[in-house]
Order: sequence, then structure tokens, then C-alpha cells
Amino acid sequence: MTAGQGKGGGRAGGRLVRRHTVWTRLTHWLWAVSLFFLMLSGLQVFNAHPVLHVGEESGFAYDNAVLAIGATGEGAAARGFIRILGAEFDTTGFLGVQQGTVQAIPAALTIPSYRSLAAGRVVHFFFAWLLLAVLALWLVAAAATGHLRDLVPTRADLRALPRDIADHARLRLRHGRGYGALQKLAYAGVLFVLLPLMILTGLTMSPWFNAWFPWTLDLFGGRQTARTLHFAVMLLLAGFFAVHMLMVLLAGPVNELRSILTGWYRIDPDQEGGAG
Ligand code: HEM
Repeated sequence: MTAGQGKGGGRAGGRLVRRHTVWTRLTHWLWAVSLFFLMLSGLQVFNAHPVLHVGEESGFAYDNAVLAIGATGEGAAARGFIRILGAEFDTTGFLGVQQGTVQAIPAALTIPSYRSLAAGRVVHFFFAWLLLAVLALWLVAAAATGHLRDLVPTRADLRALPRDIADHARLRLRHGRGYGALQKLAYAGVLFVLLPLMILTGLTMSPWFNAWFPWTLDLFGGRQTARTLHFAVMLLLAGFFAVHMLMVLLAGPVNELRSILTGWYRIDPDQEGGAG
């Protein structure tokens, strides 16, 4: 917290302003819950074939794996490994082998926790359709309420970007009426790039979707590459989530949580007119 800041973030004496509409708050929590289930059920599905390929083919006859998680040896001697672009790292106890059980991703990180590709797929597809519907709802509501504009960086934002980066590096977080430059870029990156890419690469793995839109296979270079990209986007979203949580904590969790739950946000007294 910066000097003079109130307990819950936002400087003491700052005014409460209405920051988020009900649509922003509702869709935010629906996609947060959806992404939680999607990630853990996705790791269950990944466990059925914990190898990522680039290209059209997959299988023992092909040498196109970019990532593999597996195990060597048996019983107490079993060792877990992750192989990334040919470089192998021992991950015994976490990836590949956990307490004598040979499994790529540990049970604590999968839904369901027991091995079931079928159950994992049911959960995954349910939340994938829910996420698609929620994003469509967000887009319509954001266009109707003018919220789309809140996410597009203006020229002034881009000019202020170096200062915004320096302020974040020094943990000097301002509480303005709207999002700051970095926040806009991060949220727009998630909503307009990562989530659509996640959905499109997911659909590209489906044969019925390929039959309707064969160009998607050309776009991503085949189903296996689409699967690898799908996994990479999941890692980027997990990275975003970690930074997002850190920022919520640093910016003042009470003020931040109040805003995304009730819409009301306390701004700094010197930010009455400005953004971020
Ligand atoms: C996978 C999970 C999550 C994703 C992808 C995500 C993504 C986002 C995005 C894109 C926005 C901007 C929304 C908009 O303007 O329409 C946002 C806002 C926000 N999120 Fe999340 N979020 C996630 C989870 C969470 C969680 C668990 C919390 C709280 C503990 C949280 C707290 C907030 C807050 C406080 C804001 C508003 C920030 C502000 O007004 O300055 N988010 N989030």
C-alpha cells in the first residue's frame, strides 16, 4: 500500500464510486468458476495422453513431441520426468510419479480426482459451453453499456504506459475511476485474445467442428498443434490468474473484492477525474 492509503485500498477519505455493472460482476464470477473447472478437468483429460505434439500426427512412429510427462522404472524405483523440447527434468513426487503412483498430473490437480477420462470430458465440455455463453453475454452487455470502451487503451494510456509500469514495479498502485493502461492491456488480452483462442483451439480438436469449419485445421496446423496451443493458453491464463491475485492483494483486497462483488469502489482523493 502507498503512504496515506486506507486499510482496504484506496486512500483514506476517497469517495465510493460505482465501478462495475451487474453484468461485469455476474460474468466475471461465472467465467472464474468455469475456468477453475475447465483447468482441472482439462488436466484429467490431458492425463489420458500426457504428450503434446506439433504437426498433424501423434503416436510412437512420430518424433514431433514438444512436451511429455511420464515415468521410468517401476514401484519404489519409479522416477517421474517432464521433457520439454528434448530437455528432461526429474519431477518425481510431483509430475509423473506421486508416492509410488504413476500418473502425469497429480490427483489433487484433476477433476475428478480419480482417473476417469469420461467424467473429465463431461465436466470439461459442460463448462466449455458455459464459458462460451458467458463470454457472448459479456460481449453483448459490454457493447450495450459502453464497457467495451473501458478496456480499449487510449493514446493517453499508451503515453502513460512507461509510468504505469514503473509505478507497478514500485508497488505504487493508484485507485482511479477506470482501469489503468496495464490493466486495460491485461484484461483486453484475456477477453479478446486468450479466451477466444482457448475456445477456437478447443473446438478445432473436435471432428464435427472440423467438418463444418475445415479452415480451422489449416489455421492451427492440425489437431495436435491446436491441442498444444490449447495447453499453452491454459498456462498463460494460469499465469494471468497468479498476477491478478497478487494485484488484488497489493491494491487492497477489501476495496477490490467489494468492487467486483457489489460494484462500489473507493477511489483516491487525487483521482477524482482520472483513470486507473
Ligand atoms: C480465472 C479466473 C479469473 C479471470 C480469468 C479473471 C479475469 C478478470 C477480467 C478479464 C477482469 C476485467 C473484467 C471487465 O472489466 O469486464 C477482472 C476484473 C477483476 N477481477 Fe478477476 N478474474 C479471475 C478471478 C478473480 C478472482 C478469484 C478474484 C478475487 C479474488 C478476482 C478479482 C477481480 C477484481 C477485484 C476485478 C476488478 C478490478 C478493478 O476494478 O480494478 N478475479 N478479472
